[in-house]
Order: sequence, then structure tokens, then C-alpha cells
Amino acid sequence: MLRLADVSHTYSDGRRRTTVLKGIDQDFERGTFYTVLGPSGSGKTTLLALASGLENPTRGTVSFEGRDLTELGLGRYRNRHAATIFQQYNLLTYMTALQNVTTAMEITGATPPSGGRRAHALRLLDSLGLDRAEATRNVRRLSGGQQQRVAIARALACEVDLLFADEPTGNLDEDTAGGIVEIFRELAHEQGKCVVVVTHSAHLAARSDRVLTLRRGRLTERRADTAGTGAPGTGRPVRSRKTQPTSPRTPPETRPTSPPTSSGTQPTSPPTSSGTQPTSQPTSSGTQRPTPPPTPRSSGRG
Ligand SMILES: Nc1ncnc2c1ncn2[C@@H]1O[C@H](COP(=O)(O)OP(=O)(O)OP(=O)(O)O)[C@@H](O)[C@H]1O
Ligand SMILES: [Mg+2]
Repeated sequence: MLRLADVSHTYSDGRRRTTVLKGIDQDFERGTFYTVLGPSGSGKTTLLALASGLENPTRGTVSFEGRDLTELGLGRYRNRHAATIFQQYNLLTYMTALQNVTTAMEITGATPPSGGRRAHALRLLDSLGLDRAEATRNVRRLSGGQQQRVAIARALACEVDLLFADEPTGNLDEDTAGGIVEIFRELAHEQGKCVVVVTHSAHLAARSDRVLTLRRGRLTERRADTAGTGAPGTGRPVRSRKTQPTSPRTPPETRPTSPPTSSGTQPTSPPTSSGTQPTSQPTSSGTQRPTPPPTPRSSGRG
């Protein structure tokens, strides 16, 4: 479904050039939940930025269903096929949680299975443990973990084939994080999506199907059995309070075309929604990645 072929990426910072990724060859398949581990600064966010069409690699190609992303169009790819949950959330801070989700759906043209966008967004937020009062509160007045769940709901609301998540459970308690992981598993195993999650969590990796490790610019895979990963049931069954694996989205076939995802390179964008995000944010490394222009498909934003 998604292929990285001989992908290398170098950042130029004045006279200094840093090659973060070196000749990566990796396929990402439908129906599979991948985790990517690696030390801080090893290039995990960079890898997601390339795979999600936020940046072009300095060498090599990224292709989706056989088409090079540059030919498909990065904006089109991000809007129609890939959603991203950013390390820094990138929520629209002047909106409520609910508005963040519905705006992303409007921008990407996502059509809820039933009941309209607002009802669908409320269901999604509820499935992630945010009640109606929290859903209708400005996101600045939510806790970090609640904001993280809004970012997850926003990505889930945009029906796409590929879901990228950068440390999506970093601010969550174990139970809530476990519930999110079960949602990722369901998206892959029951809805046929390809889910790629960057994490430092061994628990999370243990629940994924394939564990990739990024180190010194190279991506390697370790076998699930040797890593203690992958085998269903090895992880804690997590599922917290209201967090339950729901399948919020419609099947891929019924999906409209657009998604969100994210547009900016990491930092900036809403996961999903491309244009929903106002400003760019620093990447984990403290630098800023360029923010691609939003590509709203239908208005939605005010
Ligand atoms: N825009 C940029 N310009 C220059 N260097 C950058 C830029 N973005 C990232 N880097 C550098 O690239 C390397 C990889 O950064 P990246 O954010 O991909 O790491 P990471 O594995 O996601 O780290 P963490 O686990 O801390 O989030 C780091 O050394 C970082 O300083
Ligand atoms: Mg990172």
C-alpha cells in the first residue's frame, strides 16, 4: 500500500547537514498495525513526515498504491489517504473539542456513517472518554491527555486508509493508553487500515503486529516473538472507562475522499485536517518544519 524505496533525508541547517534517514526500504501494508521505536532524535518524526506526505525525501521515493507521492500530489495524498496524529496535537485552540473534530470532517469531506457530523464527532469523543461537557469545552481548558484524545478523535473522524501517529499515548494513563491501542488494533484488523505509530512504549509495541526500530538512520524489524510483541493477548487488555474500541468509521469503500490529515509537517497541522491548523509548532527537536499550505476541500473553516 505504501512503499518507501531507498529513502534518505538530510536536513541542512546553514552549513551543517544532518542525514537523518539513510536508504530506507520499507513497505507498509493494509490491515497491519506497525510501531516504530527508536531513541530520541533518531528520525522517527521525520520518517512519519515523509510517509505522510508532509515532506519530500531528499533521496528515494515514497509511493502510495504504486504511485509516487510527488506524482499523486502531496496535498491530495494527505487529504484523501492519510491522517496524522501529531506529537504536539496541533489542535485549533480557539475551538472546542467537538469543533476541532467536525471542522476536520468538513475540510476533508468525511461522511459519517449515520447521524451527521456533530453526532458522529460526539460519539467518537465519547468513545475516547470525553463526555459531552468536555467535548463542548474549549480545548485550552482540557487536560493534556484530553487534548491528546481530541487529536486522536480528529484523525479517526477523517476516513482514510493510512493512520500515522507520533507518540499518541505519551500523555495518557495506562488504562486510557491501552484503550487507544485497542482502537488502533481494530482499525487495522477489522477495518483494514494501515496504522503506523511512533512510540517509546514497549507496552504499545507489544500490541502491534510489526515492530520496526529506527537507529542511526536505518530501519530494521525485529520479530514479534523475540520482542515479546504482537501476540494477541500479550499486552494488557486495556480499555478504560469509556474508552473502548469503537469503530468509528465507515468502511473504506464508503469514504468520501478526503481527509485530512494533516498537513503541515508535523507540527502544524492538524491531524487531520489540513487546514485546520493555524500555526506551526516546533517539532520535537525544537526545530520547525515547513508547513505546507492547507488544502481544504470544502470550506469548513472559518
Ligand atoms: N527542520 C529541521 N532542521 C534540521 N534538523 C532537524 C529538523 N527537524 C529535525 N531535525 C533533526 O533531525 C533529527 C531527527 O529528528 P526527529 O524529530 O525526526 O527525531 P525523533 O526520533 O522524532 O525524536 P523524538 O523521539 O525526540 O521525538 C534530530 O537530530 C533533529 O535535531
Ligand atoms: Mg519525534
